[in-house]
Amino acid sequence: MSNIQSVLEEKRLFPPSAEFSAKARLDKDKLAALRAEAEKDPVGFWAELARRNIAWQTPFRTVLDDSQAPNYRWFTDGRTNASANCLDRHLGTKGDKIAIRFEGDKGDTKTWTYRALHAEVCKLANGLKSLGVTKGDRVVLYMPHTPEAVMAMQACARIGAVHSIVFGGFSSGSLRDRIEDAGAKVVITADGNSRGGNIIELKKAVNEALSSGCKSVEKVVVLKRSGHDVAFDAKRDVWWHELLAKQSSNCDPEWVESEHPLFLLYTSGSTGKPKGIQHSTGGYLLGAHMSCLWVFDLQDSDVFWCTADVGWVTGHTYVGYGPLSCGATILMFEGVPTWPDAGRFWKVAQDHGVTIFYTAPTAIRALMKLGEEPPAKYDLSKLRLLGSVGEPINPEAWMWYHRVIGKEKLPIVDTWWQTETGAIMMSPIPGATATKPGSCTQPLPGIFADVVDEAGEAIKSVEAGGYLVITKPWPAMLRTIWGDNERYIKTYFGQFPGKNLYVAGDSTHRDKDGYYWIMGRIDDVLNVSGHRLGTMEIESALVSHPRVAEAAVVGRPHEVKGESVFAFVTCKGARPQGEEADKLLKELREHVGKEIGALAKPDDIRFSDNLPKTRSGKIMRRLLRSIAKGEEITQDISTLENPAIVSQLQGKA
Ligand code: WT7
Repeated sequence: MSNIQSVLEEKRLFPPSAEFSAKARLDKDKLAALRAEAEKDPVGFWAELARRNIAWQTPFRTVLDDSQAPNYRWFTDGRTNASANCLDRHLGTKGDKIAIRFEGDKGDTKTWTYRALHAEVCKLANGLKSLGVTKGDRVVLYMPHTPEAVMAMQACARIGAVHSIVFGGFSSGSLRDRIEDAGAKVVITADGNSRGGNIIELKKAVNEALSSGCKSVEKVVVLKRSGHDVAFDAKRDVWWHELLAKQSSNCDPEWVESEHPLFLLYTSGSTGKPKGIQHSTGGYLLGAHMSCLWVFDLQDSDVFWCTADVGWVTGHTYVGYGPLSCGATILMFEGVPTWPDAGRFWKVAQDHGVTIFYTAPTAIRALMKLGEEPPAKYDLSKLRLLGSVGEPINPEAWMWYHRVIGKEKLPIVDTWWQTETGAIMMSPIPGATATKPGSCTQPLPGIFADVVDEAGEAIKSVEAGGYLVITKPWPAMLRTIWGDNERYIKTYFGQFPGKNLYVAGDSTHRDKDGYYWIMGRIDDVLNVSGHRLGTMEIESALVSHPRVAEAAVVGRPHEVKGESVFAFVTCKGARPQGEEADKLLKELREHVGKEIGALAKPDDIRFSDNLPKTRSGKIMRRLLRSIAKGEEITQDISTLENPAIVSQLQGKA
C-alpha cells in the first residue's frame, strides 16, 4: 500500500525535448497516427509492419491464425530466418559497419563487423551441422556474456536449431534440469570466464550436470575463454576453435516457417519447476525489431548498450536479435558495474562512445549508492537515451538517473515487459511521450492492455487498479510452454475462464491520464535484482537439505535488489540456536546456491518450531511478509493454529 501511495503522489511530468523529437523516428503526431492505425485494424497493422520490416523468403498470406486460441499463430505460411534477418540482409549496405564492440572483464577489447560476424556465425553453424545438429534440435548455451554467445544464438537460428540459454549464474543442478526438460543434443559452453575478477566455472558445472543425467546430450562445444585447466572428455567434448577451423565461412540459412521455435528460455513460475517459454521466429523477430526502432529510436550512428546478460530475455531481444536486425552497433561488456572500481560502467560507456544505455533499476540503485563522483569522472556526452527494465523503478532512482546520468535532458524509457511477451509492451516513446518517474506510461502501438477486477471484468474508468491483462494477441507473444501446453493455457489464459485475457501476473494502477504504474507480482514470485524467482523453487531447495522439515519463502523490500529472499525454516529435531543456528544458516545459504544459483540465496533465514498456519493448514504468507518487513502485526491472527509462534518468527524468542 505504501508503494501505491508514493506513486499516486508522483506529480512530476517530463515532456519530450524538442531537440530529441526533431530528430526522432517518432514524434507525437507520428505516434498518434500509428496508434490510430493499430486501433482500427490491429491484425492488418502488424501485417503491414511484418511485410516492410522482416525479410521473408516466402511471403505470408495468413496473418493471424486464431483457430486454436489461445495458441495463436502469426504469419503461418511465411518462411524466414532470424539469422538472415540479423546478418545477411546488412552485408550489401553495412558489411564493414561494426556490429559488436566488446570489452572483457579484464579490459580486453575486440570488434566484429557485420561481415566478420556473419563469417563466424556461418562457421559455427557449419560446425554444429557437422556434429549432427539439424532443424528443431535443441542446443543449450551456458556461456559467458561475450560475443560468442550471440554467435551461438545466431548459428542455431541459422540452421533452425532451437537454442535454450541457461544463465551462467545458475548451478549445475538447475542446468541439468533445463537440459533434460529441453532434451538438448548439444551444449555450448566455455572453460570459464572472469566476472568482477572471479572465475566462473562454466565447464565444471556442465561436467557435473552431465555426469548426473542429461542422456540426450551427444556433444559439448567448449569455447576457450579463461584458459584455465578443465576436465575434458575427448570423446564428447570439442573445442570451439578446433571445430570452426575446419569450416567454411558460408552457410545458407535454413528457411523456416514463421512459427518455427526460435528459442526456449526457462523462467520461474509460482509453482513447480521452471517453465520453458517457447518463442517463434517471425513474430518474435518483428516485436524485437519494431520495439528497437520505436522505443530506442535506433539510428545508424548509435552505439547501443543493453547491460543484460544473454541468459535473460532482455539479452535475447535487445542484445542477440533486435538491434542486429536493425543493423545497429551494439556493445557487450562481460564484467560487472563496479569492478575494479565504482566507475567501471561509466568508463566503458565513455570508451565505447555509448549513445543508448539500457539497464535495470537494481543496477541504478547500486550505482546511486556510490555517489555522483564516479560518473562525473567520465565523458558521457555521447549518451542520448536512457532505459530501464526488470522491475518498477522507484521515483528516487528515476530522478537520480535523470539528473546525474541524463544531465536533466535525456529521455528515460521505463520499459515493462516479460520473458513471455518477447518484446517491450509498455514504454514511453522518447520523442513523443511525456514521462512520469515510476510509470512505464502506455502500451506500444498494436499492444492492447487493460485493468480488470477479481472477476476479470474490465474497469471502465480511466483511473483504475487491479490485474494487468493484455486483451489481444501480439506477434512476439510466447507460443507455449515447452512440453506442457496445458500449463501454458492455465497459467496465462486460465485465470478468467471464457474471457480470453492474457494475465501478466502483475498488479497495476492506471492513473487519470491513462498511464500505467506496475505495482508488483500478484503470485508467489519474487523479483530479486530484476530476476524472477519462484518462492516454491527456493522452498524445495531448502527442504532438500537433510536438517530442514519445512520452509516458507517470502520477499522483503531491499534497497538495492528491489526484493530480497527471506526464508522461515523449521528443522527436524530441536530448533537450532546460537552457534548451531549460525552454522546451519550459512550451510543453508550455500545449499540454495548449489541447488539453484547464487542469486537465490536467502539474505535472511529465521528458524522457528512451526510455521504460522490456518486451521485448514495453509501457511499464512501475508503474515510472514509483514514479519519479514518488520511491520507491526495488525492482521487478524485468531485463525492461527499456533498464535504463540509469532514472536519466534519475529526473532524475539
Ligand atoms: C516481470 C517479468 C522483461 C525483462 C526483464 C524481466 C517485472 C519488468 C518492469 C518495469 C515494473 C517490471 C514485472 C514483470 N518488470 N519490467 N519496467 N516496471 N515491473 O523479465 O524475468 O520475465 O520478469 O518483471 O513484474 O512481470 P522477467
